[in-house]
Formats: sequence, C-alpha cells, structure tokens
Amino acid sequence: MIKVNENFLKLKSSYLFSEIAKRVSSFQEQNPEKSIIKLGIGDVTRALPKACIEAFHKAVDELGSDKTFRGYGPEKGYDFLREKIADSDYGSVNIDADEIFVSDGSKCDTGNFQELFANDITVAVPDPVYPVYVDTNVMAGRTGDNAEGRYQGLEYLECNQANDFVPALPSKPVDLIYLCFPNNPTGTVATKEQLKLWVDYAREHKALILYDAAYEAFITDKEIPHSIYEIEGAHEVAVEFRSFSKLAGFTGTRCAITVVPKTCMVYDSTGAAHSLHALWNRRQSTKFNGVSYPVQRAAEAVYSQEGRRQVKELVDYYMNNASIIKEKMTSLGFTCTGGTNAPYIWINSKSDSWTFFDLLLNKAGVVCTPGAGFGTCGEGYVRLSAFNSRENVESAMNRIAEAL
Ligand code: MLT
Repeated sequence: MIKVNENFLKLKSSYLFSEIAKRVSSFQEQNPEKSIIKLGIGDVTRALPKACIEAFHKAVDELGSDKTFRGYGPEKGYDFLREKIADSDYGSVNIDADEIFVSDGSKCDTGNFQELFANDITVAVPDPVYPVYVDTNVMAGRTGDNAEGRYQGLEYLECNQANDFVPALPSKPVDLIYLCFPNNPTGTVATKEQLKLWVDYAREHKALILYDAAYEAFITDKEIPHSIYEIEGAHEVAVEFRSFSKLAGFTGTRCAITVVPKTCMVYDSTGAAHSLHALWNRRQSTKFNGVSYPVQRAAEAVYSQEGRRQVKELVDYYMNNASIIKEKMTSLGFTCTGGTNAPYIWINSKSDSWTFFDLLLNKAGVVCTPGAGFGTCGEGYVRLSAFNSRENVESAMNRIAEAL
C-alpha cells in the first residue's frame, strides 16, 4: 500500500493564490459579462525588457548550430551571469561569484532551503508571511497541526501597525529565521539598525537567517539597505534570495539568485560546524540541472547599459502604480502601509479580509489578496499589487471608489 506523507494532510486544502484563482474563476463563470481587474497575485504584466529579448533570441540561435550548441549547464549557473551578479549587485558587500547560485526562482529556493536542516529545529516566521516559508516546513514535518490558523511548533513573529510591521526578536530561542524585506505582503522595509538586531541575534544563537530580498529593486529610500550583507557579521549567518521576476518581468521566464556565503556554518548533533555552501551545492547538483542557457543570457542582459535603463523604467512604472493605489485608498479613508519601497500596498480593510475580498470582487470586479491568507495577523487587511497596466490600475481605483 502506498502511504501518504501525513504532513501534507496538515496543510490547508489549497495554496492561497490557487484558492483566489478558484474564487475568481467561479465568479467569472457566473458573471461572464463582468470585466475583472487582477491586483491580487504579484504577477507582472509588462513585456520583458528589449535588451533581455535580444539576448534571449541570440542565445536560442546559438542552440540552433552544432558549433555553439550547449547541453547541460553548470548547476550553479554560468560564470558569465554569476560574475555579473557578484560585481553589480554584491560588489560593495564582498560576495564572490562562487557564493552565488542561479536558480529558477526564489519561491523554489526559499521553499527548498529548509531541506538542509534537522527536523527538530525551531523555526521563526513573521506573521503575516509569504505562505511558502510555512507550508514547506509543514511538509517537512517540522510542525504539529494547524490550530486556529497557526501551526503548532512554529514561532510566529507578530507584525502589526504597533510595530510598523517589523517583527521584534523572538521571546524564546529559535534556530532558523525567515525575514523578507521589502516585505511581502506588507510592503514594509527594515532599517540597518533593525536588521543588525537580527544578525546579532543569529550570531549569538548560532541561528541562520533566510533573507528574502526578492523586491529589493523597488527600494527608493536611500537609507534602506538593499542587502543583508550591508550589516556587519551577516556573512556568517544569512542566506539571501533575489529574483529577476519582479525586477525584469521574469515571472514566466524564471531566473533567480541565491547567495550562500562560504563563511556560513550549520552544526551537527556534536556541535561540529559544516559549510552551508557545500551542502546547498550538494543539494542543487543532485536535484537541479540549472536554468536554461537562453534564460541566463536574458538575465545577463539586465546588467548591460540598455538593460539597466529598461529595467529601471519597468520598476518606476510599477512604483507609479503603487503611488496611485496608495493615494486613492488613503483618500477613501483606509490606512495603508507599503507602496513606497515595495510594489505592494497593505490596507487595513476595517472588516474581515475575505469579506472585503468578496466585496471588491462582486461590486468592483477587482481582485485583491485577503490578508488572512498570509497568517492570523493578516486578518483585517488586504493586499493590492501594483503589477498591472496604468489603465487597469486607474480603472480599478475608480471602480473601488464607486463601489465603497
Ligand atoms: C505574491 O503575489 O505574493 C507573489 O506572486 C508570490 C511569488 O512571487 O511567488
């Protein structure tokens, strides 16, 4: 008899964004004449930058000739891309190209990374949180059942208006800490001083921080750190994730960056230290065959002069959408967070978040993400995403103003 991994049975029946998609398509079936504007899932809508497309085409053509054909690439990514990333993104924080892994997405990497750790570690997650961090630890068997929206055994770090959605250090010792700045879903950022508290904590407790910086390109405030490695000591205790998805429109193309410094250690039951970099490399070379060559060439083009200009234009476009959303929702009397250093606007919905989701869908034909889907502290909030056309964002704001 084939037996199930019972940890999967602890999970909520569907992933948040699948649940939203299900509700939206059922609404659309019942109301085929209604036009729906999706500001729910953070999926980009604008074309890939021209520089990326040109590089992509050229690389595909190379695969069409025996002389320039490439088969399996290096699991960690081609040197040409890792060197560009190291120089351009991490040149000022002493990260070497060899410490960079190119992958097919930060969702996969933030989800997979926990495989390297023992099952009896204590895991801390912010609440609200990107569900992937929680669900993958549930699948691995690191939690008990879900009771009232929280899994037993996880340490939830509450984020609310009172702490500006930046979590305080845990009250009990933890071993693995997930942080995400600019934050998904709240759009908040952390200052150097706030991150230093976490780095110091991790060093003191021999803990590890998984730092999701997928939205770093959207930071506009000059004082806000773009990388956790701007904090002294972080190279010993933090792994950082970045992505080409939102930066350059690669959500469907798939390319991301995971930085595992060679100075990061993980400990066995005798207390002996092991290289985290070596273990992640071992994991990736066993389970992953690298990102396709044309995609890596397209990602490399982000770092060309033209690519940089085009990517900035994309980011600015979405950030203008974010200001429009934030301004309108504020003028309608809602308290909003985010939207200035992140493409997400976190809105106090003044009511139950799924009720507000249904209200926006039914009355305005606008899809948001209910905050409750991100954790118990997300109840009473919804998230609007700035990833859409200007026209749709303006129209969504007008429809919401009329509907409320
Ligand atoms: C979101 O809407 O939170 C994002 O699309 C998540 C992701 O990038 O996987």
